[in-house]
Amino acid sequence: MCGIIGYVGQRRAAEVLTHALKHLEYRGYDSVGIAVKDGSTITVRKDKGMVDEVSKKHSFLTMGGSIGIGHTRWATHGVPCQENSHPHFDCTKNIVLVHNGVIENFQELKEDVLKKGHKFTSETDSEIVAHMLEDNLKSNSDVLSVMSDVVNKIHGSYSFVVMAGNKKELYLARKNSPLVIGIGKGEMFCASDIPALLPYTSKFVQLEEGDLAVLSETGYNVLDHNRKPTTRKEFSVNWNIEMAQKGGYEHFMLKEIHDQGHFITESLASDTTSAKKLLDKYSRIDIVAAGTSYHAGLLFAILLQREGKNAQAFIASDYPFVAVPTKNTLVVAISQSGETADVLQSIRFVKSKSAKILSITNVVGSTITNLSDEVVYLNTGPEIGVAATKTFTAELAVIYKLMFAKERLSSIKNIFEKMLESESEVKSVAAKLKNVKNAFFIARGISVPIAQEGSLKFKEITYIHSEAYPGGELKHGTLSLIEEGIPVIVIAPKDETSSKIIGNLKEAKTRGALIISITNDENIRKESDISISIPTLDDPVLYPFAMIIPLQLLAYYVSTLRGINPDKPRNLAKSVTVE
Ligand code: F6R
Repeated sequence: MCGIIGYVGQRRAAEVLTHALKHLEYRGYDSVGIAVKDGSTITVRKDKGMVDEVSKKHSFLTMGGSIGIGHTRWATHGVPCQENSHPHFDCTKNIVLVHNGVIENFQELKEDVLKKGHKFTSETDSEIVAHMLEDNLKSNSDVLSVMSDVVNKIHGSYSFVVMAGNKKELYLARKNSPLVIGIGKGEMFCASDIPALLPYTSKFVQLEEGDLAVLSETGYNVLDHNRKPTTRKEFSVNWNIEMAQKGGYEHFMLKEIHDQGHFITESLASDTTSAKKLLDKYSRIDIVAAGTSYHAGLLFAILLQREGKNAQAFIASDYPFVAVPTKNTLVVAISQSGETADVLQSIRFVKSKSAKILSITNVVGSTITNLSDEVVYLNTGPEIGVAATKTFTAELAVIYKLMFAKERLSSIKNIFEKMLESESEVKSVAAKLKNVKNAFFIARGISVPIAQEGSLKFKEITYIHSEAYPGGELKHGTLSLIEEGIPVIVIAPKDETSSKIIGNLKEAKTRGALIISITNDENIRKESDISISIPTLDDPVLYPFAMIIPLQLLAYYVSTLRGINPDKPRNLAKSVTVE
């Protein structure tokens, strides 16, 4: 899972590539590299590290030439180091490429290439493709037809951008990894996602699975998976560059938490008409998603079950191994990026069973949208922080819109605004947690998925071990872990679960736990060591929107107090395009 970029036009390519790679860094930040062609000479500069550091160390901005490619890496094959950084050359240094994805049959292909005498400089799966292109170009100078032959031999996922010393074009291929073309005037771009190109254009074309494409400064051509010339729909986005930048906040994550008050209106305005009809038609609904989106799915399943549906949320990576969908199943896939490989794998499995697919995603033109029968968009703008925040509440907003009348949802914006007022209170709670080693999150009923999301957010960006449970489950094993001073965060709106959660809270308190509650229930407040207040809501089903804000803020402040950059937690990436 990596970020790739290509440019051909009149500007200094190195500047465009370096700038765009900064926006792609969330996709992986193990190493960075660019290749620029000046005349017929290709120069590659690359190294382990992040964009600012590597571009400065290797003086990217001094490189001449107006055509080039770039890459930011999330390591899969080979440790992060200079040799394994992209771009990768062939033996002659006439072909250079960047790759996002995983070549599953690379050992087999590599043996073949080695037998032909090629020398490898990296341990990556990607480099073999440069050598395969080199071989095939000896008998055929048409790069696109050679690329077609080469990618046909690859099993796995890829988006490639290839540059050749003797050509003025860039060559693109895409299968199961994102790649979008940006259309300029007298210049063309490509990248793993749209925000990277927003400073240059708002007009895009999304390549489809199996497509090949050529970019020149005057335009682009696409070949479909049968290698027939084709057209792909051009579209414009109204995200502005401001929306993809920090807007004065120290981190994207904090900005995105605050942005929720604004974007929720847009998410609630999403068109759900056809999706609602589809939902009404089915009694069995399987929800597939990963991570944060899975937590939104859990809440969705509870709401659907309450309506009498046979609904269940599944972890996408396991869905094909545990579920048996039929043509009478509606599968709802939730993925903010629309590119999560585990989710796409589930969708492909579902398609083979003839079930219908409704997807909920943030990214127009993402792979999930091409594979689904119906799509609802989150409309929440690009999310840059690796930890999902505004896209989680946008997913909830869309789910609630699918379930409830519009009038019931009109207070959500106010709830967010009210909860954001608790920021300084949450910050002072964070100071008490910054040195703990473990934390537990408990809740009951519809608050359980919120506790799970609060715990995921917390561990993901603070590196503190944390777990979440339905409160009643503590006594069945986990209580043995509770000892003096361990924080137990109790998510406890005043609803039908209050009298039960108070018992669970006391079980932990008697064993010495530090009880931090998020509540509007006076009895729970009295039993707590620390309490964060939430407003009392007329409609208890809306409490998840109130609960999640302090949990996101808590994770954020504990993370920053521990000196961690919450926008880029270690070992993670924003869009997980490997299974
Ligand atoms: C956690 C987080 C991840 C994602 C997961 C699925 O903060 O962001 O758990 O939710 O990788 O991503 P999408 O929703 O893009 O499919």
